[in-house]
Amino acid sequence: MKIYQIDCSARKEGSTSRMLAKKILDKVKKDDDEVIYRDLDDEMLFISGLTESGMKIPENEQTDEHKKMFELSDKLVSELKESDVIIISVPIYNFGPPATLKAWADLAARVKLTFKYGDDGRRKGLLEDKQVYLVITSGGTKIQGEEDFLTPWLIHMLNFFGIKKIDIVAADQMALDYEKSIKNAEEKIKELFKD
Ligand SMILES: Cc1cc2nc3c(=O)[nH]c(=O)nc-3n(C[C@H](O)[C@H](O)[C@H](O)COP(=O)(O)O)c2cc1C
Repeated sequence: MKIYQIDCSARKEGSTSRMLAKKILDKVKKDDDEVIYRDLDDEMLFISGLTESGMKIPENEQTDEHKKMFELSDKLVSELKESDVIIISVPIYNFGPPATLKAWADLAARVKLTFKYGDDGRRKGLLEDKQVYLVITSGGTKIQGEEDFLTPWLIHMLNFFGIKKIDIVAADQMALDYEKSIKNAEEKIKELFKD
């Protein structure tokens, strides 16, 4: 089995979302599983310099910047496609996703690769049959409350890719009661992996 772990906190040391994602990885991973790890805080690009309405530019018109963008996009798409289980850890930044996660989604959404349009014109996700674990952390925003625009967006994005099996481990409102928040998250992990 291939496990794809994506972290994106802009904080490397002392990051709660990274710590909880690691706990999930330790629960999921069996000895012969392969882990593909991606830290969006180490490398990310924004879609830029497009010459058409979609994410395509004829190869002979591509600048070096375009080539870099497609190279990263191709890599992200293949990492997603080849994984069986995906763990995404993400803190809420200004009520939404960190810019790196939004940029990741922009690069990962590729027609005919991660989604397509059927003969009936309907969109269809091409990444079915994957299990996703989301770790979502926040300082004061209640997860899935009215100020949380990250969680509904991320679930929608994953559904758009065809992914329906999504479990959420939330450590929210850590600034209000850190101990309680972590306890709730750890209990959720225990509940998800009880055998
Ligand atoms: C740029 C920035 C914006 C933030 N915006 C919010 C926010 O809108 N709501 C909130 O509850 N916490 C906000 N926080 C706090 C983080 O969500 C919280 O510290 C984070 O979940 C901790 O995750 P980490 O320890 O993995 O970095 C923000 C933090 C940063 C750095």
